[in-house]
Amino acid sequence: MPVYSISHVENVRVCVVMVGLPARGKSLISQKIVRYLSWLSIKSKCFNVGNYRRQIATMPIEVDAKFFDPNNEEGLKYRQQAIDLAIDDMMRWFSDEQGVVGILDATNSTRARRETILKLCRENYIEPMFLESFCDDQDLVLQNILDVKTTSPDYVSKPQDYAMKDFLQRIEYYNQIYEPMDAVTDSELTFIKLVNVNSQIILNRIESYLESRIVYYVMNLHIKPRCIWLSRHGESEFNVTGQIGGDSNLSTRGWRYAKKLPELVLKSLGPDAQHTNLTVWTSTLKRTQQTASFLPYKKKLQWKALDELDAGECDGMTYEEIEQKFPEDFKARDDDKYEYRYRGGESYRDIVIRLEPIIMELERQENILIITHQAVLRCLYAYFMNVPQHESPWMSIPLHTLIKLEPRAYSTLVSRIKADIPAVSTYKEKGTSQLGESVEGMSSKSRDLISASAES
Ligand code: ATP
Ligand code: F6P
Repeated sequence: MPVYSISHVENVRVCVVMVGLPARGKSLISQKIVRYLSWLSIKSKCFNVGNYRRQIATMPIEVDAKFFDPNNEEGLKYRQQAIDLAIDDMMRWFSDEQGVVGILDATNSTRARRETILKLCRENYIEPMFLESFCDDQDLVLQNILDVKTTSPDYVSKPQDYAMKDFLQRIEYYNQIYEPMDAVTDSELTFIKLVNVNSQIILNRIESYLESRIVYYVMNLHIKPRCIWLSRHGESEFNVTGQIGGDSNLSTRGWRYAKKLPELVLKSLGPDAQHTNLTVWTSTLKRTQQTASFLPYKKKLQWKALDELDAGECDGMTYEEIEQKFPEDFKARDDDKYEYRYRGGESYRDIVIRLEPIIMELERQENILIITHQAVLRCLYAYFMNVPQHESPWMSIPLHTLIKLEPRAYSTLVSRIKADIPAVSTYKEKGTSQLGESVEGMSSKSRDLISASAES
């Protein structure tokens, strides 16, 4: 049976047209939307006009603030070429690669520019959806420039104070021609307008289901610094006997991990840290709750959506038993682990679908510690680290290891803190029913994930 993503069912293609002055978070929002939709199997891509401009306006053309002066004919010529190239590539991607959501990441600051894009989209039966980030909080803008612009490829080998001054001048030039969107003049358009991140959100003519998904996601984003900790439950009795699923208790070593977990969280916060305010989420299964039981935080919530992959008829069996009893299923799962659905149970794709509300809530929240299960944790990790679907079910996420994620502007920092308490391996490689991972046998991506993360 074919697998449909929500967008295929709807048969809608959307072009998200970003709008706003420089340093308003447009690229960050674009990249997050692409990551979120890709995680949901909706084919999406961002076309960043700044990158096109950097490719064509090369030395000896000086790209300093004056390049963006609306009266600079040469600058205008290159900028027009850059947007034309980006639009051409995007249109080709929609038609040749069956793209579903394309994001045109530029300032698109004038109505004339937006009209041109609108017309092109309509001619190609693509729904245009404008997404404006309006921000007049000067402190935030200055912070954004410091965080991401002074280190941008536009200022390689330039001192920070030069970059800061020049970027502010660039914004000033854009400000001379900027026409923000408003519900009266743009009443016919589909748009979302974020004012000062999400202190006010204006929505206009949001029509399709896909558009409303994007709106809902964007509405939940915030930019406060925070950490997300992920951990599997401590080693369970079923882990020791190699059985999957079930609702068993922790093993003796699993209890040791539970007792050590508060110390690991503290350690991950750095020397002299105190327990900060954080919320603990667990599944409804005993092993995650037992793992959370020594944590000193008041707020502990159980989510059914965090329960382990349902193995259906195979629940409680070992991989060897599954291979003997259902050899075809065993092979089918190895061949396509993301799509394979256990008899009467779930696939990885099913988990991603049930995790969507968790992701929305996670985006809204600040510090969260999630104690869950191998398959669920792989799916959550794949969202944050942009791991392709076919790779995610094969990622190595060992027991007795705390993972700390720190979202940054365009990336997420990862550290893995090992508890130094032995546990069995629950990793099953392709083509065998034996547990345990040989580093050689792991996919290169999984290996990279392990070596890229700082171990302490
Ligand atoms: P440019 O037009 O120069 O490409 P941009 O608008 O794409 O700039 P980004 O490069 O995405 O800006 O800026 C990232 C910074 O913006 C980050 O520091 C991030 O915290 C901040 N940011 C993210 N969302 C918003 C928002 N809605 N409003 C203001 N700042 C935001
Ligand atoms: O900083 C502004 C910027 O991101 C430039 O890097 C890029 O050339 C420009 O915006 C693209 O937007 P527009 O084509 O609207 O000027």
